[in-house]
Amino acid sequence: MGNQEYGNMTKGKRAEFGTKLGVLATTVGSAVGLGNIWRFPYEVGTHGGGAFLLCYFVFVFLIGVPLMCSEFAMGRGTRSNIFGAYRKLAPGGHWQIAGYLAIIAAVLILSFYSVVAGWTVEYFFQSVSGSLNLDSQQAYHNKFDEFSTGSFRPIFWTIAFLAANVVILLRGVSNGIEKMSNLLMPILFLILIAFCVNSLFLPGAAEGIKFLFMPDFSKITGTVLLGALGQAFFSLSLGMGCMMTYSSYFKDDTNLVRSSFTIAALDSLVAIMAGIIIFPAVFSFGGEPAAGPTLVFEVLPTIFHRMPFGAVWSSLFFFLLFLASLTSTISVSEIVIAFLIEEKKMSRRKATWFMMSVVILFGALCSLSFGPFKGFTIAGLTVFNLFDFVSSNILLPLGGFILAIFTGWKLNSGYMRDQLTNNGRLRGREFGFIMTCVKFICPAAILLVFLNCIGIL
Ligand code: TRP
Repeated sequence: MGNQEYGNMTKGKRAEFGTKLGVLATTVGSAVGLGNIWRFPYEVGTHGGGAFLLCYFVFVFLIGVPLMCSEFAMGRGTRSNIFGAYRKLAPGGHWQIAGYLAIIAAVLILSFYSVVAGWTVEYFFQSVSGSLNLDSQQAYHNKFDEFSTGSFRPIFWTIAFLAANVVILLRGVSNGIEKMSNLLMPILFLILIAFCVNSLFLPGAAEGIKFLFMPDFSKITGTVLLGALGQAFFSLSLGMGCMMTYSSYFKDDTNLVRSSFTIAALDSLVAIMAGIIIFPAVFSFGGEPAAGPTLVFEVLPTIFHRMPFGAVWSSLFFFLLFLASLTSTISVSEIVIAFLIEEKKMSRRKATWFMMSVVILFGALCSLSFGPFKGFTIAGLTVFNLFDFVSSNILLPLGGFILAIFTGWKLNSGYMRDQLTNNGRLRGREFGFIMTCVKFICPAAILLVFLNCIGIL
């Protein structure tokens, strides 16, 4: 979403997404990113496979979809960002605290996300230059280790990635980027299918598929539940008003409930495909599923290496992943920038640079926490892991909790019904189910997972 829309908003005119496809393409563009292809497999791997996947699915459909409906209802109803939405619907209340949590979450997410996006750029160039041509899983592991623990190169690429964001955020060429990504995302989808087929034919693939899909219920612990909850929020771009902002540009006749289901289904599908690509390969090549944030970057090149025209596949893939990351970070940046412009009265230019200076600093810290700062940990987590954990597993679910209480209990139910049924024009058969989730299941589940994790339950 570029500055054109925000520019229009301040002048009192607002752009709207013209088509149904436009609505889907932009929201799915925000949802699909490193969260699906990098974070999902690494979370599944560290949290025991199928058990995590099961919890994740339950959370996506019982918490994610209803809360996405809530965000959509608030955004389209008020035509505002997260601060304005809470303010318009409950003037003078303390609900705007959700907005401040969102800003903190956004800055933390941008910081670690950009490091990983920087890795994709490095791997794109390595693929193009043909230097990703090694002969063993161990060699790929060593290569990535050497790169990511370095000081200069990973920070350089992090900053380069952020610079690409600045160009888009300042010039508002996002229209072009969005058109390009709308065109290229289906291609990403297609090549993921090709990679899935390839992985399924690897020797020993069944082991990986079993790991991914066979839940071992004894593995479901508080940490697994919290991880799955955080991943559901992160992957669906929920809990910090991102979907809310997008929906403020929806038309009055957009079907909010159906859009939420479709976005959640497509997003989960991409994540599952990433799992089907990664885990057979991990088991087939004798890797370690619990390798953590570096998992995908060690395994994927090994897969590409064994495919015919590997370098071509690999360049294409890392380029598309870079684009997918870009459409996601733009959506996160807009939350912070809109806040600085509208609440702090900064110019767009000043807001962008101010935010970026903070993110570059934090991003550099995240990057260095793989190398020189590896030993510096808080509660056993490196800076990178801490940012990831605090934003996804704490701040986003907390934002979701506030949202659930607000839309389920504070707003009168007529508001939600009007929004979710387009003022009665839709039959709204799902309305009762969605509101039961928003009112009872979401707050209760989030609270229980939190309490369980801090050991109270
Ligand atoms: N969902 C994106 C991904 O999977 C990341 C993202 C974009 C995000 N906007 C967000 C995460 C807002 C949390 C909140 O890569």
